[in-house]
Amino acid sequence: MKLALLGCGNVGSEVVRLMRTRGEELASRVGEPVEIVGIAVRRLDRDRSHLPVEKELFTTDALSLVKRPDVDIVVEVAGGIEPARTWITTALAEGKSVVTANKALLAEDGPALSAAAKAGGADLYYEAAAAAAIPLMRPLRESLHGDTINRVLGIVNGTTNYILSQMSQTGAAFEEALGEATELGYAEADPTADVDNYDAAAKAALIASLAFHTHIDLGEVYREGIRDVSAADIASAAAQGRVVKPLCIATREADGVSVRVHPAMIPTTHPLANVNGAYNAVFVEAESAGRLMFYGAGAGGTETASAVLGDIVAVARNKRGGITAFPPEAAYQDLPVKPIGE
Ligand code: HSE
Repeated sequence: MKLALLGCGNVGSEVVRLMRTRGEELASRVGEPVEIVGIAVRRLDRDRSHLPVEKELFTTDALSLVKRPDVDIVVEVAGGIEPARTWITTALAEGKSVVTANKALLAEDGPALSAAAKAGGADLYYEAAAAAAIPLMRPLRESLHGDTINRVLGIVNGTTNYILSQMSQTGAAFEEALGEATELGYAEADPTADVDNYDAAAKAALIASLAFHTHIDLGEVYREGIRDVSAADIASAAAQGRVVKPLCIATREADGVSVRVHPAMIPTTHPLANVNGAYNAVFVEAESAGRLMFYGAGAGGTETASAVLGDIVAVARNKRGGITAFPPEAAYQDLPVKPIGE
């Protein structure tokens, strides 16, 4: 099985490292070795000598790598909308299975990408797109498919959770806590995506789409960032036995669904109240399963790479078995998304 890797930043480097150090283990799980045959990067002049990989594998021509006839699986961890969309749709059209961590692209163009996967007879897996190492996409789209999910409450951004936790626990000011989150590598290159909840809104769209078997566009997610949360808000919450958390709230309503991300006060007795630092957690309320909580590291190169590797094993196995995860006739209902405030 041959794999093309697109992107070699924090996550991509860890994918390379783990695939090389765990090669035999992965081969035994798939049933044959999975070999990296090319790595697309923006610049060839970076020092990547720390990576256990031959430098001949690096290329700046991602599209040619995707189109190579011997490539079976394409792993996209470069991020951004274009050219990632072109690479992924090209791969899917050629029947190559795709593993991606690209929440922004999935939230913007999920239905078109799923349709491309079905048309190409290929798999599209994206466990790493929300909440990094926490198994969430597959539990929602597979394990809980026999149930009815009524509500999902989630802390799906490590940076905002770190900032609000620090403000609550140490009295740190917003800017100070943001600086620490950036230094620790949790924040995106442009922390606006984190603190204004664009990152969480993209994840909320993916989570709600899977939870409710519908398509939620990014633009349908009500979004408010955490910049305006003050020390006084946190003190007032504490006086009421509550904490302020950066929440994603997706609810099934009688006539549709609502999806929103914003800072919210929750009682200190709620399981999400004790999810602190850069940790993520997603609390699911389902009719038969009851209340479930998925908890763990929601950011970080190694943690995200763990989810990518899990997807690589899954799509490689499917390919060996000549199957894809979803039959072409798999249907989605199209539930109306209710604007907040109505
Ligand atoms: N910046 C993101 C976070 C990384 O803080 O959660 C994972 O998407």
